[in-house]
Amino acid sequence: MTTDHRAEPSAPALNRPATAVAHPNIALIKYWGKRDEQLMIPYADSLSMTLDVFPTTTTVRIDSGAAADEVVLDGSPTDGERRQRVVTFLDLVRKLAGRTERACVDTRNSVPTGAGLASSASGFAALALAGAAAYGLDLDTTALSRLARRGSVSASRSVFGGFAMCHAGPGAGAAADLGSYAEPVPVAPFDVALVIAIVDAGPKAVSSREGMRRTVRTSPLYPSWVASGRADLAEMRAALLQADLDAVGEIAERNALGMHATMLAARPAVRYLAPVTVAVLDSVLRLRADGVSAYATMDAGPNVKVLCRRADADRVADTLRDAAPGCAVVVAGPGPAARPDPGSRP
Ligand code: ADP
Ligand code: DP6
Ligand code: CO
Repeated sequence: MTTDHRAEPSAPALNRPATAVAHPNIALIKYWGKRDEQLMIPYADSLSMTLDVFPTTTTVRIDSGAAADEVVLDGSPTDGERRQRVVTFLDLVRKLAGRTERACVDTRNSVPTGAGLASSASGFAALALAGAAAYGLDLDTTALSRLARRGSVSASRSVFGGFAMCHAGPGAGAAADLGSYAEPVPVAPFDVALVIAIVDAGPKAVSSREGMRRTVRTSPLYPSWVASGRADLAEMRAALLQADLDAVGEIAERNALGMHATMLAARPAVRYLAPVTVAVLDSVLRLRADGVSAYATMDAGPNVKVLCRRADADRVADTLRDAAPGCAVVVAGPGPAARPDPGSRP
């Protein structure tokens, strides 16, 4: 039997490629663990800042004659797991749109891919927006965030600019799917920068998905991590409402260290932190001892992101360069929501 991937004759032709741009986000409160990997439902709420650096630009072009999806990442056709993640995501978009045509996805990251700098967040937020537009789906931002979550949980937050939180959602199955999405978080006017030390731009040996799966299954600290994250989130929301940088930084730093402690206790241990990471953490402590408000957070990779005031960002960047000789240091601020690329309209 052959499969006919063409649309029903009555369905309108989808002949407009759609392009979208999204930025990575860095979680100040991390989720680290899914209670449903099929539906991509996290155990815990999370809260992040979308960046104004490292955009991903993604174009989705429907190809009604094609038998399979084509995925081009940074100019090279991909296969294996990276392609499969995109195909699985497109299958979901097609199901929602009631369409069957295959597509060509051309995506360009300016953030290193798979390095713990949130490429999956900008990548799947851009793909959700471009994919929905190309397949003729009209989604509000909540539905778009829920869709992006199916590609990567962190991507649900990159649909929004500034600060956003992703709800873990209630229960299981359809209720959880409906209730797990991100939304903007109210903050007082906030003078903040995130200084990023790129310790290693190479892809991680253990993906976030695999690392958190092992942590959930084997770390005896996992229940405490979820419980302490709940308290951290409540305190973080209050600190953001007061634009209290020291409180925001302290909570973010302890939340990140708690996450890494939890994964270090997995069997076998999941460890993303490298010697240079620790050297950078020491330099952040020295900055604080010198009276500079600087606080570190690390994700699933050795790179360090340091929260500080805009006015202190150059000094913090110099300190990180000294602590991590030869490493690139990038100063970021709060960035924009995912958006269609206006230049791409035919
Ligand atoms: P990161 O820290 O970069 O988010 P993850 O392990 O969470 O690392 O995810 C990396 C994976 O995300 C990649 O291996 C790839 O499957 C997917 N990804 C990254 N960028 C894109 C993109 N622009 N389009 C589609 N998928 C992407
Ligand atoms: C440490 O959401 O990228 O940055 O859903 O499997 O794609 P997948 O994982 P992802 O993991 C993010 C891990 C984290 C924490 C966070 O961003 O909340
Ligand atoms: Co990711």
